[in-house]
Amino acid sequence: MCGITGYIGHRDAYPIVINGLKRLEYRGYDSAGIMMYDGETMHLSKTKGKVSDLEIITNREEERKKGKIGIGHTRWATHGVPNDVNSHPHFSQSGDLVIVHNGIIENYDTIKKELISRGYEFKSDTDTEVLVNLIEEVKKSEGCKLGKAVQLALTNVIGAYAIAVFDKTKPNEIVVARLGSPIAIGVGKNNEEFFVASDASPFIEYTKDAIYLEDGELAIIKKDKGIKVRKIENDKEIDANIQKLQLSLEQIEKGGYDHFMLKEIYEQPKAIIDTYRGRMLANEGVIRMAGVDDNMSKFLNADRIIVIACGTSWHAGLVGEYLFEDMARIPVEVEYASEFRYRNPIITPKDVVIAISQSGETADTLAAIKLAKSKGAFVFGICNVVGSSIARETHAGAYTHAGPEIGVASTKAFTTQITVLSLIALKLAQAKGTLSTSAVNKYLQTMQQIPAQVDKLLQIDAQVKEIAAVYKDAKNCLYLGRGFNFPVALEGALKLKEISYIHAEGYPAAEMKHGPIALIDENMPVFVIATSKGHYEKVVSNIQEIKSRSGKIIAIVTEGDETVKEIADHVIEIPDTEEAFTPLLTTIPFQLLSYHIAVMLGKNVDQPRNLAKSVTVE
Ligand code: F6R
Repeated sequence: MCGITGYIGHRDAYPIVINGLKRLEYRGYDSAGIMMYDGETMHLSKTKGKVSDLEIITNREEERKKGKIGIGHTRWATHGVPNDVNSHPHFSQSGDLVIVHNGIIENYDTIKKELISRGYEFKSDTDTEVLVNLIEEVKKSEGCKLGKAVQLALTNVIGAYAIAVFDKTKPNEIVVARLGSPIAIGVGKNNEEFFVASDASPFIEYTKDAIYLEDGELAIIKKDKGIKVRKIENDKEIDANIQKLQLSLEQIEKGGYDHFMLKEIYEQPKAIIDTYRGRMLANEGVIRMAGVDDNMSKFLNADRIIVIACGTSWHAGLVGEYLFEDMARIPVEVEYASEFRYRNPIITPKDVVIAISQSGETADTLAAIKLAKSKGAFVFGICNVVGSSIARETHAGAYTHAGPEIGVASTKAFTTQITVLSLIALKLAQAKGTLSTSAVNKYLQTMQQIPAQVDKLLQIDAQVKEIAAVYKDAKNCLYLGRGFNFPVALEGALKLKEISYIHAEGYPAAEMKHGPIALIDENMPVFVIATSKGHYEKVVSNIQEIKSRSGKIIAIVTEGDETVKEIADHVIEIPDTEEAFTPLLTTIPFQLLSYHIAVMLGKNVDQPRNLAKSVTVE
């Protein structure tokens, strides 16, 4: 979490840094700050609140915006409550060094005590202020330059970090480093200017050349001179790997929608096509995925598949369990990465682990991957962000081509993850012969219809909005589904919780009678997925049970359904498809519903409280 950005070059740094912070606000938004160096003085502006609050401060005095060097930060608090003092950047004791930091320094307390014994005083409660003072102390005691001081200091640090440090006594350079938290460096023409950011979005309109630091690397960025990349552990210089970015400015703007979330919901037909394009030839029954093709024997000889993920990606993994078991007959376990990593799991080289992550930066998922690798498992990644830590840490993988997902609530990531999982399941079913050729072909042809069906489904937006208006003041909601749609019930409840702050729970429909049914009365809206192919009669019985206890029923049914229409208070129809693909459709009304309720309640849809888009801390 936390977004960091910086600039050193010949342009005015302020607009680059402040606009960069706005693009990185998805990473955290409880406080924001900027340091501008005007050639003589470092001007610090920081505040609790959003980047827009920071702008109120910087707009008061032009001085705060002057200079060709700047670093900025948007925070998701870990150590120390969100307030002005704990906001970044942080100065060192002498006032010469300034730092922005994303991550957690786990041994900060020990270091802090040591520094206090040497006369350091601390203004904030942050681990970051400890780190900048440690760098200062090393610089003084070793008599070295900033780059060396940062390198030596970091060898004493336990934790995760992406940092950018500036030293006003050597004002032609910025030093950046990473371990566990991402950092990208944009390289301007002729080494005349450089950009620093947690992802490439802040500098996409300035340069397409970027260096993504690897874990344990440090870069000394010198204006007009270039970049030196070094290993933190031994200070050895290594080659900087400059990559060409594919991202465009248009992709990271709202494009006329009120919120990123709505834009991303509407992008799903295209995102699904982009994800399967080039990977399937529906009429010829061909599925191509280099990461799977090249490692087919690993998949075919696997005793089981273990899926690890968090949040929405975990829900997609649960859909994956149904897909793999049903189509390819491979046993699957789906694990919360945060639990998996700490419970001494039994993993062998005959296990295939699939790690799913939109951001590719989720700390728990990354740690679970490392654990699985250390036990000899083959790890396959499904990520959206190209070049992300998880994409690089896994043995092989497949990208979802959803494009940047900025809204904190995941939408198109979910449907594109399911698309990739479906293709892998079908590919394995083909290779194992667990599905006939005609069955695979039928699935592929049906998959091709999904984007148009999602498009059609999006036209029910007005109907969903009316339903949202009826239930927006509910205090609790239940979401029920069975089989492939049980994970969709979980996902529907998560979407509502995270952006509207209404308490919601998802359950397998038949579990209702084992407890949740006690909650049902006339004030309880129950959202039920009752599509025609998924244990339909059983779900209809569950709906009857809700009805007899006066619960309000909002049902998602297959087009043409008459039975549920008779019982439910509201019915949302989805086009008919294979049962295995229904999650790609049933999830859409739930996304729209959460969106409209949150808007009606006046909540910040794209930046819900306490959340951040990429969770790079445990
Ligand atoms: C929910 C949401 C989170 C993420 C979770 C995992 O809408 O966005 O639950 O799904 O934090 O993130 P990734 O997929 O980036 O690993």
